[in-house]
Amino acid sequence: MIAVYPGSFDPVTLGHLDIIERAAKIADKLYVGVLINVSKAARFTAETRLAHLRELTAHLPNVEVAFFDGMLVEFVKKVGADVIIRGFRFEISEYEMQMVTANIIFGAETFFIPAKPEFSYISSSLVKEIAARGGDISGMVPEIIGRAFSDGIGS
Ligand code: PNS
Repeated sequence: MIAVYPGSFDPVTLGHLDIIERAAKIADKLYVGVLINVSKAARFTAETRLAHLRELTAHLPNVEVAFFDGMLVEFVKKVGADVIIRGFRFEISEYEMQMVTANIIFGAETFFIPAKPEFSYISSSLVKEIAARGGDISGMVPEIIGRAFSDGIGS
């Protein structure tokens, strides 16, 4: 099974990494797709996000990280994926379900993987909010991301 795990990953969190590791066990090949979410303000450039994800998934031989700026379904078709993977925390939003349903109509199915309880409170938006106020994000993101915030790089 070839799978695509799309997201903005701005920044990648411990929750994202856990989904990648679990999805990589199920899929023969997993593409982590860095896509621009037009409704969210970016903290890190796409290049920085790709570099972070590549470093953090280097130990997973069947994972490949790629950037894509068109429709998700086009990325899915381009890499020949069978399924889209999305993580979810407490609930799946109406907006997420709209995208999932549109993708079904476009010919792509989505499998949801629930976050582990220890990661279920973490989101990239929360990390950005806490970091912007000088708070401690060390339990929410990999070390390289914490350093990128404190060094103020990659934006
Ligand atoms: O990490 P996010 O921000 O929740 O990821 C959302 C993302 C990037 C996966 C979503 O916005 C998306 O699929 N964007 C690609 C553009 C697209 O295909 N939009 C229409 C979906 S039917």
